[in-house]
Amino acid sequence: MSLPLQSAAREAMERLNAEAAGLNIWLRTQANAPAQRPWFRDDGIAAGGTLARGRVGANQMKAAPHRWRWREIGPYLDRIAEIARGAKESDGVSPIEFADRQQFLLVNPGLGGRLQVASTIRCAVSIYLPGDVAPVHLHTPNASRTILSDNGGYTTIEGERCRAARGDLILTPHGTWHDHGNDGTTPVVWADILDFPLLEFLDISWIDEDFPGERDGNARAQRPTRDSGYSERLYGAGGILPGFVSHRRGIGRDTSPVFHYRGEAIRAALDGLSGEAGDPYEGITVSFVNPATGAPVFPTLDYAAQLLRPGEATRWKRETSSTFYIVLDGEGTTEIAGAAYDWAQNDLFVVPNSLWRRHINRGPREAVLYSVSDRPLLQKIGQYRAQGRDGDGAVVQLVE
Ligand SMILES: [Fe+2]
Repeated sequence: MSLPLQSAAREAMERLNAEAAGLNIWLRTQANAPAQRPWFRDDGIAAGGTLARGRVGANQMKAAPHRWRWREIGPYLDRIAEIARGAKESDGVSPIEFADRQQFLLVNPGLGGRLQVASTIRCAVSIYLPGDVAPVHLHTPNASRTILSDNGGYTTIEGERCRAARGDLILTPHGTWHDHGNDGTTPVVWADILDFPLLEFLDISWIDEDFPGERDGNARAQRPTRDSGYSERLYGAGGILPGFVSHRRGIGRDTSPVFHYRGEAIRAALDGLSGEAGDPYEGITVSFVNPATGAPVFPTLDYAAQLLRPGEATRWKRETSSTFYIVLDGEGTTEIAGAAYDWAQNDLFVVPNSLWRRHINRGPREAVLYSVSDRPLLQKIGQYRAQGRDGDGAVVQLVE
């Protein structure tokens, strides 16, 4: 009977490990061996059936698949805003000063309370009341906002005033001066997505709030020097580049000079392609790229949008990258590692790295998902791989 012996040995190792803790060393045991998920092995990989096998020690954290339902989390924005309003009226404290931002951050339940949805990605959902201004600043994380409210609000980036509407994607690449605000009459809501966890991990996250240029009336925002539509005017004609600019904006490098994609234009592009065959693993997709280089808009994150036609079910796919999704339109299900996550408008969900997943549009009309993936980062370090399952369920290498 080898099992009891093994167990006894294991227990002895754990006791020894506990004893050694004070010396800041960790004795390697079976239970806490570094977690590894099988990759290039066809057997034992259920198509979305179970998490890939691997030993995850109690001291290790892995991002979990998760969906945040808008109908459950959305009301908290109103409650935050209500308290902020009260602070303004009773204490004379402006909402931004009161809590820096009126927002909640999404917490992946697998990551022990860290303010991140995946190992590299943070998402916050913010509300800006009429009159709110987030002062001008610059930082090393790349950031974006996906506009969820219908209309109103702006972000000014390097002097370009981007007026927001639902479905817009507004980028604030690292090293660009930016400020946000709501100069309208109704609250504005958007999702902020950043590569903050990665920069925090590398300890290279910093912020500069000492804007050197001319400020707008309230002295906290930069004075707009370019109107809404500047990005579109310079780069909106596909395949045609202006020859009189450097394509570098801000002090960062390897980021896109386009700051603003309009929701209407994104949807029109998807609709215009919806009659094509598309990708069996993704449906109809478009990627947001640096028009000068064709590279992803950020060196770390790739932004994309996809359309799933009514009844469309994609094939199983998995990647070494993690992907975070925002449901812009429609209703459906994404199956991740054997569990089904239904989604509807404004829901958010994450597919952590290496887990099998597929999307199904269960609604009567087109579904549109926006996504953010850390694929560019993994490609740069030679770690991006992707597998799919063909119609018979056999594993195929999509990117080796
Ligand atoms: Fe920022």
